[in-house]
Amino acid sequence: MTREDTSIQVDLSDDLSFSNGFPHDVFSWLRIHEPVYWHEPTSVTPDGEGFWVVSRYEQVNEIIRNPVLFSSDKGGDRTGGGTAIKDEKTAGKLLNQTDGSQHKRLRALVQKGFTVTAINKLEGDLRVKAKHLFSQLKCGERVDFARALAPELPSHAICTVLGVPKSDRLDLCTWIDQGIEAESSSVIAVEYLKKVREYAKSLIAQKKENPEEDIFSKIIHAKFEEDGSSLSDYELGSFFALLFPAGAETTTRSISGGMLALLENPNQLEQLRGKPELMKTAIEEIVRWTTPSVYKRRTATTDTELGGKKIFMGQKVTLWEMSANRDEAMFSHPFHFDVTRDPNKHLGFGVGVHFCLGASLARLELKVFFEEFLKSNLRVELDQPVTWVPNNRLVGIKNMFVRITERTNS
Ligand code: HEM
Repeated sequence: MTREDTSIQVDLSDDLSFSNGFPHDVFSWLRIHEPVYWHEPTSVTPDGEGFWVVSRYEQVNEIIRNPVLFSSDKGGDRTGGGTAIKDEKTAGKLLNQTDGSQHKRLRALVQKGFTVTAINKLEGDLRVKAKHLFSQLKCGERVDFARALAPELPSHAICTVLGVPKSDRLDLCTWIDQGIEAESSSVIAVEYLKKVREYAKSLIAQKKENPEEDIFSKIIHAKFEEDGSSLSDYELGSFFALLFPAGAETTTRSISGGMLALLENPNQLEQLRGKPELMKTAIEEIVRWTTPSVYKRRTATTDTELGGKKIFMGQKVTLWEMSANRDEAMFSHPFHFDVTRDPNKHLGFGVGVHFCLGASLARLELKVFFEEFLKSNLRVELDQPVTWVPNNRLVGIKNMFVRITERTNS
């Protein structure tokens, strides 16, 4: 690839630029030569506007920690906002697309459901599910790990958190998958999102009448301390729809990307087999390595300066956590997958006020999945090169065919 002067030859607003996974070479170049880079709009750039691309750890960290200057809602006199390159209609309403007191208000309420005790309670059920998953695999079998195994725990966990009855899960997950696979603004995506919204509406109505033991019921019935009111039906529906891409898709992609890293680095897998106590650092390394939620966007609320570049009020600023997590200035040998890495201050779960609400659940799912995989004594190997989902927002593996080469029962 040639990069003349300061212009890069890859369109980061085009999902197809991610067809072979994350373009690490582009970002390695950017971190060195243009850490705060102005990306001109192209024929496919949403809203037809250019945007800043921030690639170094130090500056990504600086932006996420400064929500006053870099807004998740909207910035300056702009009407659009959100956390994707494209302005989102949900900006100012959805938890991850709000700032200041509105964000604090929403976050405080949903946090009432996501308690440590509530998350820990899910462990037993997740273990049963994982054990079952691995016990069914036979020696010699060829299986698409990314489709058949990786999504199982994350979608089960989110459905359990949201109290979705088992009988509805298959339909719901199909709508979600189809919606995510379609281009976000397409008719298909809108159709599926509508179905999910309608489903959420009826579930919320049921749970209002008959609260159950799930986390979502707790959130539906939680009250704001100031005035005793609860989240509106719109806010609850938005939260419901947010948790599938934010919680299930991300964790699925970490599981398949983590497995690929272990298969490509057999010495790391063997280390983990020999010392299961390394699981804690291994999980953080998997999240750093895979960083499924690869970039966020903020909007500058005022004219400012970053890395010597003048940023104007209202401009879109994208910060690339995947690039930050491979920054040589922060991590030693960042392109080396190391299950013992410690410290590991990755930005895979974000940082600051928007720090991932589901981080402890995601860590639990990863722990259970990989612990049960090791305990199952299965040996697997890659059967063909993986394919990637062409998406710049949630980078991840589309297909990963593996073969079960050994199944010992000890
Ligand atoms: C490996 C798995 C996961 C990764 C890599 C991940 C990553 C992230 C990141 C980077 C953010 C920050 C967003 C921002 O700064 O704008 C975030 C926020 C969020 N995550 Fe996760 N996440 C994961 C799993 C989950 C799970 C399992 C759930 C829910 C059960 C969840 C729910 C959320 C929510 C609701 C927010 C918004 C929080 C806020 O804006 O206050 N995530 N996540």
